[in-house]
Amino acid sequence: MEEEKRYHIGFSRQDLGADPTPYALICGDPDRTRKMTEGFGGVKLERLLSEKRGLVSCLVSLPSGRKIVCATSGMGAPSMSIVASELFSVGIRVMVRVGTTGSIREDVKAGSIVISRAALCRQGAAHDIAPVEYPAAASPFLTAALVEAAEGVGSTWHLGITASVDTFYEGQERVDSLAGGHLLRRLQGVTEEYRTLGILNYEMEAGTLFKMAGVYGFAAGCVCAVISDRTAGEAIHLGIKERAEADAIRVALSAIGSFDERYLDKAFLR
Ligand code: URA
Repeated sequence: MEEEKRYHIGFSRQDLGADPTPYALICGDPDRTRKMTEGFGGVKLERLLSEKRGLVSCLVSLPSGRKIVCATSGMGAPSMSIVASELFSVGIRVMVRVGTTGSIREDVKAGSIVISRAALCRQGAAHDIAPVEYPAAASPFLTAALVEAAEGVGSTWHLGITASVDTFYEGQERVDSLAGGHLLRRLQGVTEEYRTLGILNYEMEAGTLFKMAGVYGFAAGCVCAVISDRTAGEAIHLGIKERAEADAIRVALSAIGSFDERYLDKAFLR
């Protein structure tokens, strides 16, 4: 009997073949999902799984022979939470977010990559998943694999705590490019405060993903390309985006390709 395709991601567990993979890379941008399936030594596109609602998902094989899903999560935590939930329901148990980010520290430069070991989660979607106090923590096994891979790839990497927020402009205190012009008083100075707390960067999905990982029981990690230097300004550095993004993809592919299967059951405890 044919299994029903999941409503949003547009594919079922059966679509992953006879031996369905538990591994997935997820990213916000469908163009990045497509990029992950081509041009990275030995990575082979097996098949397009779906492009329903612009959420491009592909089955890919790595040089080691391991198959992985590359899936688009859309922008922000609400969309990501739907995709992560449906990926879990088709058997995915290891999810690595490959994203982009804005650094809030001088020493974390545009062009480098940030690996998140945990997140300050200021996200509405996460309230529907766990109490606000619930930890937003990455899998230590996956995080170590990402660091190892970053060393191997030779990228400039940083490991630390990420601020995951719901908005790109207001929530990340982009006062100069704020079309509405008004920033709530409680957000004025928030970036400086986060810097004081040792937070490295802003992005928009990791916190909720990490909380979901704890609640559902899967391993989650996050690697992001730094494309904005928020200590210097608000702009996105398009000139360095492609290379930094390629580094983050290489790191994620290498980490998920070499993730030790023995840790699959130990990556989470429920
Ligand atoms: N993504 C974000 O959320 N913020 C940035 O500054 C860049 C990418």
